[in-house]
Amino acid sequence: MSFPGRITSKISSFLPRLGLSALFLCLVSGVVLVFYYRPMGNVFQNVEEITTAVPYGWFFRQVHYAAGQSFVILMLLHTLDHFLRKRYRIYSLAEWLRLIFSLSLCFYTLFTGFVLKGDKEGFFAGRIFMNILEKIPVAGGTIAKLFIVPGDSFFFLPYLYHCFFLPILIVYLIRKHIREWFPSQGFMFIGTIGLFLYALFIKPSMDIPPEAPVDIVKGPWFFLGIQTFLKVLPPLLAGLIIPAVFVGCLIILPAMGNILGALSLKESIVHAGENGLYYLLIASICAYGFLTLKGAIWGP
Ligand code: HEM
Repeated sequence: MSFPGRITSKISSFLPRLGLSALFLCLVSGVVLVFYYRPMGNVFQNVEEITTAVPYGWFFRQVHYAAGQSFVILMLLHTLDHFLRKRYRIYSLAEWLRLIFSLSLCFYTLFTGFVLKGDKEGFFAGRIFMNILEKIPVAGGTIAKLFIVPGDSFFFLPYLYHCFFLPILIVYLIRKHIREWFPSQGFMFIGTIGLFLYALFIKPSMDIPPEAPVDIVKGPWFFLGIQTFLKVLPPLLAGLIIPAVFVGCLIILPAMGNILGALSLKESIVHAGENGLYYLLIASICAYGFLTLKGAIWGP
């Protein structure tokens, strides 16, 4: 194997292993936080107390934040790596579906974590999410109530999803995909040192009190593109239909050849259809990445 080939194959094997060590630290720090976190009443004050009054609370918060972000970013890179090398061809449709669905759930876990901070940004993100769900025709109100409700219990359902349902579901969905559940000592060591150094030396961003007046409220980094869409498109289209179409196209990608083949089209057309979808997805990922960067630098 050539030198660049060896480097890329090493990176490919590091991504999931480091991701697993980040997941491990994220779950451990999450269990510590859950002892102090109260999803009812003044959530912002409760989170501030965890940061300032609970012994090492600030440290566990910062480790949890960094481990959660690292886990999801590493899983995203790992999936992108498989996608770009067209490794989805070796998976059955059911397994590819499970993997893409669990990656989407990882992002939903990050999103609910963002809401749980209980500050202005978290509260706004939760409100926007609730408004988008309520716009679903016919059953919107009922569907929204399954995820988030207004009033004193606003944080309760995101809390249940974040701390219990989603981590359990993600682990269940990826169970067959993971060959070794315990990251090797080397990866665990690098992950722990990296995240501990981050928590010790990087100052957390300021949590904005819910009643503070601010001009722009930014959502989590992966939501910035959707926030830009929301400015120009109806909420249902920007917040649900476009993301759902993207995920749907990603899911059917391995089966595209079979679907077109079943229509008894010429082999060259089947090939062009498969490649067309692949490059369309790459273009969409690049466009969304650009919107995310633009939102991070100049605001959504
Ligand atoms: C895949 C797993 C998980 C990911 C990716 C994740 C990620 C996050 C993120 C990014 C935050 C926001 C932190 C901040 O901005 O300060 C957060 C908050 C929180 N997470 Fe998790 N988490 C996960 C699992 C868990 C588990 C299993 C628990 C508890 C059993 C938990 C408990 C909490 C609590 C209580 C908060 C709110 C307190 C705070 O903001 O520091 N998390 N999580």
